[in-house]
Amino acid sequence: MLIAGNWKMYKGPAEAAAFCRELRERDLPDDVDVVVCPPYVSLEPAVQALAGTEIGVFAQNVHWELEGPFTGEISAPMLREAGVYGTLVAHSERRQLCGETDESARARTRIALEQGLHVILCVGETEREREAGETEAVLRRQLADVEPDDSLVIAYEPVWAIGTGKTATPDVAEQAHELIKSLVDVPVLYGGSVKPDNAAELLAQPAIDGALVGGASLDLDSFVAICRAGSRS
Ligand code: PGA
Repeated sequence: MLIAGNWKMYKGPAEAAAFCRELRERDLPDDVDVVVCPPYVSLEPAVQALAGTEIGVFAQNVHWELEGPFTGEISAPMLREAGVYGTLVAHSERRQLCGETDESARARTRIALEQGLHVILCVGETEREREAGETEAVLRRQLADVEPDDSLVIAYEPVWAIGTGKTATPDVAEQAHELIKSLVDVPVLYGGSVKPDNAAELLAQPAIDGALVGGASLDLDSFVAICRAGSRS
C-alpha cells in the first residue's frame, strides 16, 4: 500500500520542512509506504527533514532530457542529486494546463526510470470522455507502449474527481484499476478527492494499491488519517 501526498503549488521551503518534521514524529503504519510530493523549491528541505525515515520525497514533474537549453525545467539527475526518490509524471493538471501529451509523458517516464527515480505515472479520463463511453479507449491510449517496471506505479485519477469533491465510487475505480492492470501489470493508486472519510472504503478494493491525495494531503492530521486507513493490520 502506497499513500502519496501531491502538494501541487502549496507549501514553500519553510512550511514544507515544518510539515515533514511533524510528519516523521507521527505514528505511521509499517505496512504503508508514505510519500510526499512538494514543489521543486521545497524538495531539499523535505529531504533533509525526512532524512533517516522511510518516507519518500517525490518531485511533481521531470524533464525528458538530462540537461540542455530548457529554461524552467528540471532533470532527473538534478532530482537525484537533491536526494529525491521519485517523481510524478503527467498529472492531469499538466495534461490540461501545460500541454503534456502521451508522448511527452512516456519520454519523462522513460528517462526518470533510467536515471533511477521511481515514477508515479498519472492517467485518467475527463468527464466528457466518461460520458461518451471513452474511458477504456483513453486509458489504452495513455498507457500505450508503457512497460511494467519495478519502479513504476500508475495513478488512476479520473479528471472529473480531482479537486471537485466528486469521488469515483469504489466499483467505478475498481473497474478502471482492473483494466489498467491488464494493460500494465504494476501497482495502481486511486486519486481524486480522497479524504479521511472515504479512504478506507476505496483502499479496501482489491485492485486499489494506494492513493494519490491532493487537497487532503496538505493538512497533517488528514494526511496521517488517510495513511492509517491504508493499513491492513
Ligand atoms: P484531490 O487531488 O485529492 O485534491 O482531488 C488529487 C490529485 O490531483 O492528485
